[in-house]
Amino acid sequence: MSPERFAALWRSLLPIGRDGRDGGYLRRSWGPADLECREWFVEEALDRDLTLDPDGNGNLFAWWGDPTAGDAVVTGSHLDSVPHGGAYDGPLGVVSALLAVDELRERGRKPRRPIGLAVFTEEEGARFGVACLGSRLLTGAIDPARARALTDRDGLTLADAMTKAGHEPLDLGADPERLGRIGAFVELHIEQGRALTDLDAPVGVGSAIWPHGRWRMEFTGEANHAGTTRTADRRDPMLAFAAAVLAANEEAHRQGAHATIGRVEVTPNATNAIASSVAAWLDARAASAEALSSLVAAVRERINERAAAVGTGFAMIAESESPIVEFDSGLRDRIAARLGGAPVLPTGAGHDAGVLSAHVPTAMLFVRNPTGVSHAPTEYATDADCAAGVTALADTLEELAC
Ligand code: GLV
Ligand code: MN
Ligand code: MN
Ligand code: MN
Repeated sequence: MSPERFAALWRSLLPIGRDGRDGGYLRRSWGPADLECREWFVEEALDRDLTLDPDGNGNLFAWWGDPTAGDAVVTGSHLDSVPHGGAYDGPLGVVSALLAVDELRERGRKPRRPIGLAVFTEEEGARFGVACLGSRLLTGAIDPARARALTDRDGLTLADAMTKAGHEPLDLGADPERLGRIGAFVELHIEQGRALTDLDAPVGVGSAIWPHGRWRMEFTGEANHAGTTRTADRRDPMLAFAAAVLAANEEAHRQGAHATIGRVEVTPNATNAIASSVAAWLDARAASAEALSSLVAAVRERINERAAAVGTGFAMIAESESPIVEFDSGLRDRIAARLGGAPVLPTGAGHDAGVLSAHVPTAMLFVRNPTGVSHAPTEYATDADCAAGVTALADTLEELAC
């Protein structure tokens, strides 16, 4: 595939949900930009004579061939973004899936296994807190009653948001029939690090995903006057929160893992009032389940000590947890060989492919990201590397389905 060909389809999606100020993206699931992205996908799929097949969980499928034949090879990713995210995380996999179909048709291929394109909803968990919500629902990894009741920052539930967007959430939950049609899943994604740049390779094959999770932390204290409350009389939850930020960073550094507190909500959030409460979210990732629980336990213990010392309350609630993923080794080796010995690498980022891998043989392709930046407006890959990614995905589909 030529870079120009890639760029032509890529540019048709770029304006949707772009923030004029920082160039980042605000594609909240079920919000206006997400709906526009979904319409864009539907049109592109119909233009290619693919059969549209939205599921009850808000995920979109489009088929080349008869999905009821089973043993399909499915590829895709997501179109939602983190707030002020980059253009590539998610959409690159969807655009590449559409272009890989074009490429296979131009090669004159007629798949013997059905080929499916998938767009998973709320992959980032940026609106409702649970990452990979669409693929978790599909695979039964989350209870649909819990999912319906998840709320966004405005207090709107997932069920309300779907209804408002014109998608009645009547069939939320495990869909063994649709899942059973998938014989293999391949997700192409921009790399979220610099490994491929260091290896001087445009495309790599995924080996594993680090176990990771998100915890909501609640710090409770007592609101009071900033000018008149004696230091000794204060119960300021910001102090325990500050200790949490440092503990997360220091423990992650000490243990060779990653921990981030990137979201915080302070109540009442006034300059001249001591906070009554603070909610903050911990994102923690490590190379093994044991390393992750030891990291989280160490952070929790340090916060508990600090909260007790300053007389404030502290609680920590798991919002979403993702176990370690080892992608199917047969599939991985076959794809890497087909791609002429492409490098094989693990990632610390979560993906729908990770959720699906518990049910079907799953693989990932990564496209080089020169700066390694992701979840930020400067996330970037060259058109030439993206086109190489499309070619690699088409080769992969040809290898598996034709
Ligand atoms: C999703 O991109 C995640 O890994 O947080
Ligand atoms: Mn992401
Ligand atoms: Mn992603
Ligand atoms: Mn992700």
